[in-house]
Amino acid sequence: MKSCCMYLLLLGLGTGLIRSPARSQVEIPAPARARHGMVASANALASQAGVEILKRGGNAVDVAVAVGLALAVTTPEAGNIGGGGFMLIRMADGNSVALDYREAAPRKATRTLYLDRAGNVIPQASTVGHLAVGVPGTVAGFARALERYGTMRWRDVVEPARKLAEKGFPVSHALALGLRSRESLLSQFPESRRIFLKNGLHYREGEIFRQPDLARTLKRLQQKGPRDFYEGATARLLVEEMERNGGLITLEDLKAYRPVEREPVRGEYRGYKIISMPPPSSGGAVLIEMLNMLEGYDLAALGHNSSKTYHLLIEVMRRGFADRAEHFGDPAFVRVPVNALTSESYARSRAQSIDMKRATPSTEVKPGRPMRDEPPQTTHYTVVDAKGNVVSNTYTLNTAYGSGVTVRGAGFLLNNEMDDFTAKPGSPNAFGLIQGEANAIAPGKRPLSSMTPTLVLKEGKLFVALGSPGGPTIINSVMQVLLNLIDHGMTLQGAVNAPRIHHQWLPDRVRHEPYGLARDVREALEAKGHRFEAEPRWMGDVEAIMIEPGTGMRLGASDPRNPDAGVRGY
Ligand code: GLY
Repeated sequence: MKSCCMYLLLLGLGTGLIRSPARSQVEIPAPARARHGMVASANALASQAGVEILKRGGNAVDVAVAVGLALAVTTPEAGNIGGGGFMLIRMADGNSVALDYREAAPRKATRTLYLDRAGNVIPQASTVGHLAVGVPGTVAGFARALERYGTMRWRDVVEPARKLAEKGFPVSHALALGLRSRESLLSQFPESRRIFLKNGLHYREGEIFRQPDLARTLKRLQQKGPRDFYEGATARLLVEEMERNGGLITLEDLKAYRPVEREPVRGEYRGYKIISMPPPSSGGAVLIEMLNMLEGYDLAALGHNSSKTYHLLIEVMRRGFADRAEHFGDPAFVRVPVNALTSESYARSRAQSIDMKRATPSTEVKPGRPMRDEPPQTTHYTVVDAKGNVVSNTYTLNTAYGSGVTVRGAGFLLNNEMDDFTAKPGSPNAFGLIQGEANAIAPGKRPLSSMTPTLVLKEGKLFVALGSPGGPTIINSVMQVLLNLIDHGMTLQGAVNAPRIHHQWLPDRVRHEPYGLARDVREALEAKGHRFEAEPRWMGDVEAIMIEPGTGMRLGASDPRNPDAGVRGY
């Protein structure tokens, strides 16, 4: 006995220093595993609510709607019914649809809405308060998804959210910090101060957070149906909120709002099929354009996060985002040359100017000139069910807690998505993005987005579904996770965990993450002419699910950058 223990100790088995043969076959960092279905979202309570719907026989779309509504309760900085977003659905029969429920500019909105008499951008006019709010699309989008692709009743998928709002849930460390960090925004609006800041007393970690007004709104939506948000009592509360405070949204705006089902944008990268979000998001097309540029390089040979790989990624991002600034807007108002931008020949010509020895200053990188061959025309979660239906959904209030405005009597926050429009060409928005004429404000128009809910197929089967919040960093976060999986062969969790960088053409600075860039890598990049943001910043919250080839197991990964995130399966 004694010698046996000594032997084990020498092998290190007792201490985990040496792995048993079974353990050594486990790939580390290991994603979560589940046989039937899985939900990865920014909040573990919301993911669990989704799993309960799965267990009751709901499909991925039923779950996506329930999780989206639950996040509106648990994750008020981004989960919402007062915002909008994009849902990418692929049914098990292979049919895919891109559901656009992006906010729209109110009819009274004008091109110069956020400019003063001298033509200068009025600080915060498009980010804080009632004037910043776009007509919300979330409730209409969820209702459309459920009606067309779900199997359950509206009131049943609303119920988990209503219960969470009524009974409350313990405030996490991250939520307590997050609410405090936005005190200066939320305290400008008495209703937001009362609900989210406890009238200045602040929620402490572990305290139960109940939202009775929101629970009543959800109950009304259950009883009267989703159109109540656009034509009923909820609509009237929202419009009264606008009228009291100089906002633009009218009952006509709400009544007229409709989600749009669009054909997803598609591409191919090293034999993997990419399906992603078309305009008014730039996400899918810019992602595919950048992947097309990268396909000409052997990234695996250049090395994961080596200075050569980072140089290449930055140069590709610079060019992709220059095109974003020039060519993208709402396709109902401008012609976006998506086919040309996502063509391999365009990417080849765009990549020709990349010099592997030196950074091309952004001032030298102009938007490309794709052939205009087109006919006229921020929390993420992912769900996979037992049949193989999949939903990749990104939705948002824009910046954290949106406009800061809570609809009095209805308990939900409103977006500040109007800031995603071009307030003035050449002036940066909240994300520092310089945007163009194609994204100018017009009544009823949808602001340009970077949201990139994405599905990747291999040999006709789902390989991975993913997305992220993070404004323009979304596109680059999604791309780097895909490169980690496809080029570098990482596990799903490893691919999500790995450090990321970001470049968006202008400002001509590389963003990097804390502990994410070795000093010698940075020095090598600086020697080539790259310049870095002063402070590192975390970026994204990638929530991803794969189907394991061979076993069909669902593998899920939540992003460790968000301590509240959770992947749940069964
Ligand atoms: N609101 C950020 C985006 O849509 O890109």
